[in-house]
Amino acid sequence: MHSIKENVIRYGYAFVDRYCPGTDTFVVASALGQLLTPWDGGVVQDLVPRTSATPNTYSGIYGLDRFPFHTDLAHWRLPPRYVLLRCITGYTDVPTLLLDGQTIFDIVTLDILTRAIFTQRRPRDGSLTLLRLCEPTDGDGYCFRWDGVFLKPASRIGELADQRIREQLLNCSPLSIALARAGDILLIDNWRMLHARSPIPAERVDRKIQRIYLGYLH
Ligand SMILES: [Fe+2]
Repeated sequence: MHSIKENVIRYGYAFVDRYCPGTDTFVVASALGQLLTPWDGGVVQDLVPRTSATPNTYSGIYGLDRFPFHTDLAHWRLPPRYVLLRCITGYTDVPTLLLDGQTIFDIVTLDILTRAIFTQRRPRDGSLTLLRLCEPTDGDGYCFRWDGVFLKPASRIGELADQRIREQLLNCSPLSIALARAGDILLIDNWRMLHARSPIPAERVDRKIQRIYLGYLH
């Protein structure tokens, strides 16, 4: 368990195949870190491919196609720190793609990212929140957010950052990690790494991944 946390700190993620496969996801996640409840009844979320869903979701827009790179809940003032994905039914040909935000920091620069103001594409509860792409956090770290679908630039520097990040995403070489066997886990630092889902072939629609958000790691 220690090395899982160390890998997340060092690389921004940790993958472990068949990690306690017979154990309930809630129990596995509780041992790894502090569970968050992003919405009522939402501690353990089942992710299954959908050909149709509400239009304000990735499934509603992209269906079985590839999801674009993003960080989760980027419209929150402070998005959840960690995302745990755990395989229930998976396939090697439906990998999760990861991209280290550090490469974006290096090229777009922290100076621009911390001054880049974004906002939701559509108001939530009648109001828009102004959010920085990169927010200094307690300690010496940063919370990086990116969602090119549901967030849009709200300042000149924001537009510059938007353009540069989109260029970066076109030229990047992501890591490809398949949650293929029951119990496989992928723990992602959601303040650093972007992730994307690869397309779902028609014969893979029974893929099922469980997701839990964690606040800190034990
Ligand atoms: Fe996501």
